[in-house]
Amino acid sequence: MIRIAAVGDIHMGPDTRGVLRPAFETLPECADLLLLAGDLTRHGTVEEARVVADEIRGLGVPVVAVLGNHDHHDDRPDEVTAVLRDAGAHVLEGEAAVVRAGDARVGVAGTKGFGGGFVGASAGEFGEPVMKEFVRLSRRCADGLRTSLERLEEEGCDVRVALTHYSPVPETLAGEPLEIYPFLGSYLLAEAIDTAGADLAVHGHAHAGTEHGMTTGGVKVRNVAQPVIGRAFHVYHLPVRERVSAGSGTEASTA
Ligand SMILES: [Fe+2]
Ligand SMILES: [Fe+2]
Repeated sequence: MIRIAAVGDIHMGPDTRGVLRPAFETLPECADLLLLAGDLTRHGTVEEARVVADEIRGLGVPVVAVLGNHDHHDDRPDEVTAVLRDAGAHVLEGEAAVVRAGDARVGVAGTKGFGGGFVGASAGEFGEPVMKEFVRLSRRCADGLRTSLERLEEEGCDVRVALTHYSPVPETLAGEPLEIYPFLGSYLLAEAIDTAGADLAVHGHAHAGTEHGMTTGGVKVRNVAQPVIGRAFHVYHLPVRERVSAGSGTEASTA
């Protein structure tokens, strides 16, 4: 079993320095890696990023992260990324990281993702330039996720995980106002996941959402926003087994 710890939306700042560290220090006993699903800061400042960095430095398990919309607010995503990388985290945007979990190789494909909504209620690439750019950004994020997952398949990873901030499915948004679903995720992310195949999809962003969902292709989706899971992290157990074909999701049981 691969043990994947995950949390998003920890929204740290100077006044929360150190609050997660005691729980994170237990990770080597209960998990093989830690996924951070974005919104690690409140306003994306370098000062806040340094608080997160101190929380995750030298944990003894690999840390793989994506940024969230809050981590972009100060218009310094590159600096925030650099601070987190300096603390040893893999920070992904349209990229993949492969980490070891015992004898197994775990591939994580990551993107922040973006909004646009879901089938039957989604934004289209039409009209004003800013509207077209909105949808194109969402599509670029999804394309990066798909190509990263495909690369992990070619590399023969034993387990593949899609890590995003925005949601790929509407099920894990249940509890949020329906009117804001288009700002919480995009069906394009789920299309990418189902096209390339994955064993688990993890996201955050929807603080009032629901933990469990699934893509139409059968890939289990988990909303790990901290207000949703109500703890420092949640650990998911994935069996290591041969994938039958791209697009088939394996069972993921929750701990
Ligand atoms: Fe958040
Ligand atoms: Fe967010």
